[in-house]
Amino acid sequence: MVYVKLLLVIAIIATLVPFQRAQRQKEQIDYFLKKAGLQRKQYSQPGSRNGQLTNTNLDDFRDIYANIRNFQMQLYKQNEEFITKLHRQQGRLQPIIPETVSFPCDLNNSRSLEVPTSVNRLRPGDIDIIGALGDSLTAGTALLGDTLLQGLAEFRGVTFVGGGLKDWRTYLTLPNILKVFNPNLYGYAIGNTLARERPARFSVGEPLATTQDMPFQAHVLVKRLQMDPKVDMAKHWKLVTLFIGGNDVCSDMCHYDDWNDFLENHRKDMYKTLMILKTHVPRLMVNLLSTPNVQDAVRLMRSIPISCFAIHRVACNCVVSKLWNPEHLKKIIRTVKRVQQIDEELAALPEFQTEDFSVAYRSFTSKLMLNKYENGSTDLRYNADDCFHLSQFGNAAFAQSLWNSMVQGVAPEDKLVQPPFEKFQCPSETRPYIATLKNDLEEIK
Ligand SMILES: *[C@@H]1O[C@H](CO)[C@@H](O)[C@H](O)[C@H]1NC(C)=O
Ligand SMILES: *[C@@H]1O[C@H](CO)[C@@H](O)[C@H](O)[C@H]1NC(C)=O
Repeated sequence: MVYVKLLLVIAIIATLVPFQRAQRQKEQIDYFLKKAGLQRKQYSQPGSRNGQLTNTNLDDFRDIYANIRNFQMQLYKQNEEFITKLHRQQGRLQPIIPETVSFPCDLNNSRSLEVPTSVNRLRPGDIDIIGALGDSLTAGTALLGDTLLQGLAEFRGVTFVGGGLKDWRTYLTLPNILKVFNPNLYGYAIGNTLARERPARFSVGEPLATTQDMPFQAHVLVKRLQMDPKVDMAKHWKLVTLFIGGNDVCSDMCHYDDWNDFLENHRKDMYKTLMILKTHVPRLMVNLLSTPNVQDAVRLMRSIPISCFAIHRVACNCVVSKLWNPEHLKKIIRTVKRVQQIDEELAALPEFQTEDFSVAYRSFTSKLMLNKYENGSTDLRYNADDCFHLSQFGNAAFAQSLWNSMVQGVAPEDKLVQPPFEKFQCPSETRPYIATLKNDLEEIK
């Protein structure tokens, strides 16, 4: 019900907001689509079978959708003070760490004296350029927004993968952590804008994206890196985090006649994406985050507002609409597990494990379960208002987990997401390098 009302409001806004199609924008999109080997087509939901006509082809809808997101951001800005206060009361913001408390890690030996020549010898301070590819979790959808009316606004500047607004004391994010080790770090989003705007820098994730959109995003990223005078392509070490898969599970997978085709497409698209990055970007490490177990996230939530059920139904219809069919659920769980295995296998391919390029598969996103209270209710501090995306507190917790997996490598990981700063690991003399498949194996020997 609430969602129907929301859709109505959006429809009204969408018709009121002036429709400005920038010709240049369209040409740019065509350019990248062509590079990614995709064709612009009219989108229709019934046509979305077998991976055809998913999100990239929503381009005709892009401008309207972008206007809605910008409009919702205006709503947020008008009420920012009030909303921030409310979120702090709800525990949806991390505690602000005062200046009297120092950063949890020592900074000794955290940047190499000479630029390393191997990706397996990178210390945190050696990363000069950072970027992010992905979906709404990378775009920061709903992250700081209040009420469903701001549910589409994007808070890209504070996401755990690519956000760099303020610093770790206010927003714990991977860029804000790495900034401490290298104050010249560049490429993180410096504003809560859409991917196509300048402050997004190299954080180019977009809501609704699936794995199929990743070659496109990889081309966009490569082009931005190549065109930015601040980037020394040959010399700088770059770190790109790729976090995708939630929408594949929620709204793409179940439209296939044969789910093996879905898996095969996933493998091809992911391989292609990694190959584009490897071919065009020297000195690169890719953090490949595993596809999250969204089916558990939406299914096992307890004592959540009724509006959240409606959102789950719309945003994750492949899981929720057939929830009561145990066979279907088993099939989803099996297939998601297979997607995760495929990504791990791809990361380990020899072509993706050279001295110049390494894909580091980080599995924590597939292991973490959102916390529950003793009475069984879901701890909603980690979630945005829609119970679907992450709140700032959730992003800070995920930033800590991502960072820990980069410091610890394949060491046993947490099953439960930990509140920010409760378990923050540091590089040490015996483990000074950012974990890769190769240097992890070396340690175990
Ligand atoms: C469960 O416990 C939490 C924390 O103590 C509390 O905030 C919440 O209201 C409780 N939920 C129910 C349904 O009792
Ligand atoms: C920094 O120094 C501390 C204290 O001497 C030591 O425990 C730690 O391992 C060092 N860190 C690195 C990365 O060498």
